[in-house]
Amino acid sequence: MYEKSIELLNRAVGDELAAVHQYMYFHFHCDDWGYDLLAGLFRRTAIEEMGHIETLAERVLFLKGDVKMKAAAEVQQVEDVRQMLEIARQMEEDSAREYNLWANECSTNADSVSKKLFEQLVADEERHYDQYDIEVENIEKFGDRYLALQSIERSKNLGGGG
Ligand SMILES: [Fe+2]
Ligand SMILES: [Fe+2]
Repeated sequence: MYEKSIELLNRAVGDELAAVHQYMYFHFHCDDWGYDLLAGLFRRTAIEEMGHIETLAERVLFLKGDVKMKAAAEVQQVEDVRQMLEIARQMEEDSAREYNLWANECSTNADSVSKKLFEQLVADEERHYDQYDIEVENIEKFGDRYLALQSIERSKNLGGGG
């Protein structure tokens, strides 16, 4: 009866896993370069996506399915910050769109709890989208100076200067 819901919830787990892997990859590089603000944003978002996986997994098990822990995509090995943010923003947009559709599908199948779950995720993904969008705008506005400033902040904090 809940087979379709289980399938959709597992697809979402795959998307979320891909996001966790991708954002952590971005986090490692931004951290390495000293871009603390962006490194922190990617890390915090990855942790939130992990929370999404947990919520989805709990629902799958409640419906007597099993969790397929299979990432929907490979990590894109991108090392350009602007491109990173654009990829992240796109991933959030795609997730929000899918989850909206899947909420409707669960509703059609009379699974209101999964529907509500997807709706809650949409709200989070829209917020993530917005956060990445702001950073894309900052880079467009300030370019490399924006990144340089983050590195300088890191140095100040490490060196105790300023
Ligand atoms: Fe998510
Ligand atoms: Fe997200």
